[in-house]
Amino acid sequence: MSVDASIACPQSVPPQQAQQSVPAESAEAAAPPAPDVSRQVAVLLSRLRSARKFGDGQSNPWPAYEKLRECGDVVPSPWGGVMVTSYEAASAVLRDRSYRTPDLEWRLKQGEPRWTSPASTEFSQMIMLLNAPEHTRQRRVLGNTFDRGTLDQLGAVVGGLVDGVLDELEVRMKEDGEADYADIVGDGLPVAAVGRWLGVPAADYRKLRDWTHGQAWSQELFPTPAQLAVADESALNLKAYFEDLVAERTKSPGEDVLSSWIRAWSEVEKDPQQAATIVQRLATFSIMAGLETTSNLLNAAMWLLDRHPDQADWLRYHPEGIPAATEEILRYDPAVSITTRVGSRSDSLSDIAVGKGQLVYVCIGSAHHDPRFIADPDRFDVRRPGPSRHLAFGQGAHFCLGAGLGRLEGHVLLRKLLTRFPTLRVVSEPQWEPRVAFRRMASLRVGLAPKPRFYSFGA
Ligand code: HEM
Repeated sequence: MSVDASIACPQSVPPQQAQQSVPAESAEAAAPPAPDVSRQVAVLLSRLRSARKFGDGQSNPWPAYEKLRECGDVVPSPWGGVMVTSYEAASAVLRDRSYRTPDLEWRLKQGEPRWTSPASTEFSQMIMLLNAPEHTRQRRVLGNTFDRGTLDQLGAVVGGLVDGVLDELEVRMKEDGEADYADIVGDGLPVAAVGRWLGVPAADYRKLRDWTHGQAWSQELFPTPAQLAVADESALNLKAYFEDLVAERTKSPGEDVLSSWIRAWSEVEKDPQQAATIVQRLATFSIMAGLETTSNLLNAAMWLLDRHPDQADWLRYHPEGIPAATEEILRYDPAVSITTRVGSRSDSLSDIAVGKGQLVYVCIGSAHHDPRFIADPDRFDVRRPGPSRHLAFGQGAHFCLGAGLGRLEGHVLLRKLLTRFPTLRVVSEPQWEPRVAFRRMASLRVGLAPKPRFYSFGA
């Protein structure tokens, strides 16, 4: 599948043309973008969120990313800032601490609802959006959340949760002939895994899922006012929910992680209200970070292996290949397709100027399909050597704290899914949300063969 050949970018963009105009209070003055490049990039970005009949960016974003890379390793973004498309530049930005996260202070200066809405400002005070020194302090208190011992203990728990969601999938398929894997497994497993680890009542998982998906609209590239309204309502619901849970667990602590965080923060934070707020935000972020990302890994696993049945068969008889296969799925279709940073000084990336306060969109989805990073990048191959240098969990100061749990869920699910349902098939086209930054498959219907395959893609 290829993107319209007429969408071609100039091979190189003169640095002075690539600078963007951004609000004066938030960034150094810069020259306006070259209109042709800006237009091409805008077309490609809207292509990325397009549904199947309008360009297929949702199910197959890789050709659009290829075209973006043709525009340059770093290209101007149509609404200000730059987009980093190559692996090398993406990795360099994530590792460079002078590129800061777009935190609360930066957002409040922007004066646009997308940045100043309740969902956005609340999100910006969570660990992933904090900068040093507060970010460093929170990471130090949290320590290594998923060390070997914790993961060993969680192995049995996750095994039980996987059996539970696969039981539900089987019942649904028996009763209805098919079932929504994305709902039952893709969402069901991650929310239960993080929920159980934190100590959140299982009866609340469904509403936490809905609020998490709603909140995620605030992190998209171009949220509509309606999407922002959903995000705000969801963010306020999540906040109120975890405020109540932290208050309740402070009164009656248990053996769960939430209770241990309450104890730890009461020792390091003098103000009890501030300690409670930090724990509330950590718990909220854990649910959001654990669900919105791991679901993409689990859904992509089902979808990609369905498109490559020979590789599914190989894995069924070579379960020792499952960890490497998980890394290839994370490489091929990263949940966090675009993350953001802000320049903190006058700098240049691949000869493109990046001013202080300018937004830098790090396109992990593009970096992972950069042929200078990995040979034949659009080929999905679970037997590839060494895809683990990928950026699916980020890199540098904000490297994912839940990578161990995300991987564990992927490994256990694949092992059990492949052996328990050898004839499981995708029976209709997946439904995607029109999202670019955080990819999300909203529905993935599956059934057991001999139902005919509805479609078959090439590699
Ligand atoms: C396959 C699953 C997962 C993927 C692909 C993933 C991806 C990511 C990425 C890309 C980042 C860094 C973003 C950036 O630098 O801008 C991140 C950060 C983070 N993730 Fe994950 N994540 C996953 C699972 C989880 C889980 C299960 C949890 C918690 C239980 C979690 C907790 C976090 C936290 C706390 C951070 C912020 C770290 C910091 O800023 O210091 N993640 N994740």
